[in-house]
Amino acid sequence: MIIGSILENQNIEKRIAITPEVVKKYISLGFEVCLIKNYGFHLGIKDEHYKDIGAKVLDEETEVLNSSDIIVQLGMLSDNKISNLKENQTIVGVLNPYSNKEKLESLSQKKINLFSLELLPRITRAQSMDILSSQANLAGYKAVIESFANFEKAIPMMMTAAGTVPAAKVLVVGAGVAGLQAIATAKRMGAIVFATDVRIASKEQVESLGGKFLTVEGSENLETDGGYAKEASDDFKKKQEELLSETLKKIDIVICTALIPGKKAPLILKDNMLKNMQSGSFIYDLAAIQGGNTAFTELDNIIEKNGVKIMGESNILNKLPVSASNLYAKNVFNFVENLIDKETKKININLEDEIIEKTLIK
Ligand code: NAI
Repeated sequence: MIIGSILENQNIEKRIAITPEVVKKYISLGFEVCLIKNYGFHLGIKDEHYKDIGAKVLDEETEVLNSSDIIVQLGMLSDNKISNLKENQTIVGVLNPYSNKEKLESLSQKKINLFSLELLPRITRAQSMDILSSQANLAGYKAVIESFANFEKAIPMMMTAAGTVPAAKVLVVGAGVAGLQAIATAKRMGAIVFATDVRIASKEQVESLGGKFLTVEGSENLETDGGYAKEASDDFKKKQEELLSETLKKIDIVICTALIPGKKAPLILKDNMLKNMQSGSFIYDLAAIQGGNTAFTELDNIIEKNGVKIMGESNILNKLPVSASNLYAKNVFNFVENLIDKETKKININLEDEIIEKTLIK
């Protein structure tokens, strides 16, 4: 079996799916690894390094694509690249089935096996493959670092002979994987941290990290059986708005992470609420790619409203592509290892395995 990968569109994606660490793991699993030249060059990994540990480095993308049984990527391959794929080849990546529906259907009709890793079930056995968690965790960390770098005051409290510098106050909206890492990172740097979520279970997690949880009064638990958020009722939204409007008066930095799977991100920080914030405050909106949690978020722009800056990026992971690739590549390896029959060393699409059944695009 040959596993291969080609470069993504470098303007939008700097992460890679096969790092030197996983090359060795694939080889010990019985794979041959095939990469396009300069695959890791932008991350400081030379072709020679890949060759030294046993990978094959080819000059032409079509050679890599044609010879690979399994192609592992970040995003979907472009039309001209997928046109040459053949029956029984397999693609593993973040294929975004909601926006690439037609393309994926036509590939699946050509009997190409497609596995989209954002569809992984959140079960214990799938944790080592969970790309959403590994990437959201880094995104939560980096959103705090970006905010602190843009904020024009110090973060921790400092008592100096010249006077006291107060600690910055941070609000994290949405305490899932990214939000919890944002809380931990902001606390480590000395901020006072508040957080809110629609899932009651997150209260304990926020408090265990030293954050203060803001509970929307009389709220019921808006959690699905799968652990995700349900869309909030109008009554909940009104109460949340009142609570956050009051809180925002004293907040310096907001990290937004609130998402509802398969839907537009909820609008939480409305125009009138942002007016309550002090000039010089900063908002990092990690939900920007799904429409944003604020009324003004613009992708890849810093917007200023009444002295408050709002930042949202299409791919914050491009700002730490080495760490993000290392985790992503290991997630993918763990997924592929589970897909391979241990005896025959061939792909085994066992639909009784929930991990395989849920990620396979049919
Ligand atoms: P996500 O990225 O879909 O959403 C981020 C957060 O926003 C969630 O905590 C959600 O409840 C919150 N949210 C949505 N609407 C909101 C609103 N209107 N106001 C405030 N907050 C709002 O979520 P993520 O980070 O993927 O985590 C989802 C769940 O999956 C969590 O329960 C997490 O613990 C669980 N999980 C389980 C894993 C496992 O293997 N068992 C692995 C990773 C996560």
